[in-house]
Amino acid sequence: GVAIRVEGILVESPMSGQAVELKATKITIFGDVNAKDYPISKNKLTLEHLRKFPHLRIRTKIHAALARLRNSCSTATHTFFQMNNFKYVHTPILTSNDCEGAGETFNISNTIGTECEPFFGKNVNLTVSGQLHGETYASALSDIYTFGPTFRAENSNTSRHLAEFWMIEPEMCFIDLQDLMNITEDYIKFCLKVCLGNLMEDIEFFDKHFQPGLKKQLQTLVDTQFKRMTYTEVIECLEREIQEGRAIVRVKEIENKKFKKLAKGKHVFEEPVFWGCDLGSEHEKYMTDQLVNGALIVYNYPKEIKSFYMKENSDGKTVQAMDLLVPNIGELVGGSMRIDSHDDLLQKMEEKNISIPWYLDLRKYGSVPHGGFGLGFERMIMLISGIYNIRDVIPYPRYPKHCEM
Ligand code: 4AD
Ligand code: MG
Repeated sequence: GVAIRVEGILVESPMSGQAVELKATKITIFGDVNAKDYPISKNKLTLEHLRKFPHLRIRTKIHAALARLRNSCSTATHTFFQMNNFKYVHTPILTSNDCEGAGETFNISNTIGTECEPFFGKNVNLTVSGQLHGETYASALSDIYTFGPTFRAENSNTSRHLAEFWMIEPEMCFIDLQDLMNITEDYIKFCLKVCLGNLMEDIEFFDKHFQPGLKKQLQTLVDTQFKRMTYTEVIECLEREIQEGRAIVRVKEIENKKFKKLAKGKHVFEEPVFWGCDLGSEHEKYMTDQLVNGALIVYNYPKEIKSFYMKENSDGKTVQAMDLLVPNIGELVGGSMRIDSHDDLLQKMEEKNISIPWYLDLRKYGSVPHGGFGLGFERMIMLISGIYNIRDVIPYPRYPKHCEM
């Protein structure tokens, strides 16, 4: 960790594993380090241990490689959307609505005056998604995208959830669900190709030390068309796995020992599978890791388990939503076509007791068929680095009971 300047002559190296070496004539030490108390002086520290030193861990090879990866993926994101004539829009972080309607918002509690009036005169929270504001811009500029921090107060202590994460949200006009899936796939493949092209040394480093086979897996993702299945097909597929004895759902009433016997050699699902259930990460992982062996786009979900703004299909049961699932991680992208009829949206919002008059105005004045998706940036970094804990791929992870610095 010492900061030094070395002056000398750069010569061809006789040693293997390095092309050149510096024959030093002068070494100046700027910032010395006492190795005895330097918290990251040891060679092989676990990622978990390094999390205790968020301000120093960037000096390790792994975190420097992850930082380069975030940088490349950010640039690739802008390049992809700019190349395709999307406009980059800055949506607000403070907002008075809850896009996903899931009530997982962080609230602003500041007040003004002596009467303890709310600062904004109403309830304001940190944004859970830039989508709704993005739609206002798309309805004027056509294709747009946002790329910014997003906040969710969900009490999830998992390797794929953060309270603060970055999301990329394009919104496109005059498209349909097929177009939406195509753009999702093109965008992700573009980012993968840029990283495979520019960061091979880092990817080989991740492959060698953390995730053997990573390079090949990423190349396969680029070369193979993402599989697409409707939600109904996925449920049928999982039910078949259970019926034909390759998987079993845990029955809590059966004593552990007995159940173990029943489940021998089978994959165990903790939660039941039925049409209408919200696919859990265990179901998603089983699909991508065991059955498809690659990326899977699931579309046409039951309307009951999805957000209020999603466009209904003519079957009256499903909505034009799509999720992209990837191996080892699960959901990487969530998106949908939006309801573009004023009356349909009004009815849906009334049913769900949601009031956002300006959002309805977009349908009242010159409505346009449109849709978009949100991609969790950290989950893409997990995919490309093979580092499957989200707390390691963002500089300063925020999650329940953790907001150091
Ligand atoms: O599926 P989500 O909730 O979709 C939306 O927010 C839509 N409004 C997006 C849109 O259509 N414009 O979130 C989108 C993605 C997820 O697929 C996941 O990758 C990521 O955001 N995500 C999280 N990443 C890290 N930590 C969390 N707590 C996350 N919640 C969602
Ligand atoms: Mg989702």
